[in-house]
Amino acid sequence: MERTLCIIKPDGVENKHVGDILTQIEQEGFTILGMKWARLERAAAEHFYAVHRERPFFGELVEYMISGPVVLVALERNDAVNHWRTVIGATDPAEAAEGTIRKLYGVDKGKNTVHGSDSPENGMIEVGVFFSERELITQR
Ligand code: RTP
Ligand code: MG
Repeated sequence: MERTLCIIKPDGVENKHVGDILTQIEQEGFTILGMKWARLERAAAEHFYAVHRERPFFGELVEYMISGPVVLVALERNDAVNHWRTVIGATDPAEAAEGTIRKLYGVDKGKNTVHGSDSPENGMIEVGVFFSERELITQR
């Protein structure tokens, strides 16, 4: 079964959308394997978004991701990566489809409420960054 990492970003927490987003996760048929309330450390945020290190928005992105608490949710589902990216919508909320989480709640291209992994390989890796295998509840 495929995994993806959801992060409810600082704007999602600040604007009180955690409950709504968890409801959508349940309604879309994901299994929640793990969930943590966290405040990311700078080094962790820099490492997590290391692929964007050379991009002009990298500094802003890291500052934003450490600016307040986040919720880390390890998700499992058939086609988890693609399905979660469909539910969250395009990176820029202004371009996201109607009804998607970023369209509903996103503030701007930076403050876009949620993260989703971009490939099944990265889904496995990213879940592993924040959860040990024994923290994941895989037996129902
Ligand atoms: P994410 O990784 O957070 O799920 O978002 P994504 O795949 O849709 O977008 P990605 O290209 O991976 O960018 C990562 C995050 O960087 C911020 N960003 N800001 N100001 C900008 O032009 C810009 N572009 C990207 C966003 O927070 C984006 O989610
Ligand atoms: Mg990405």
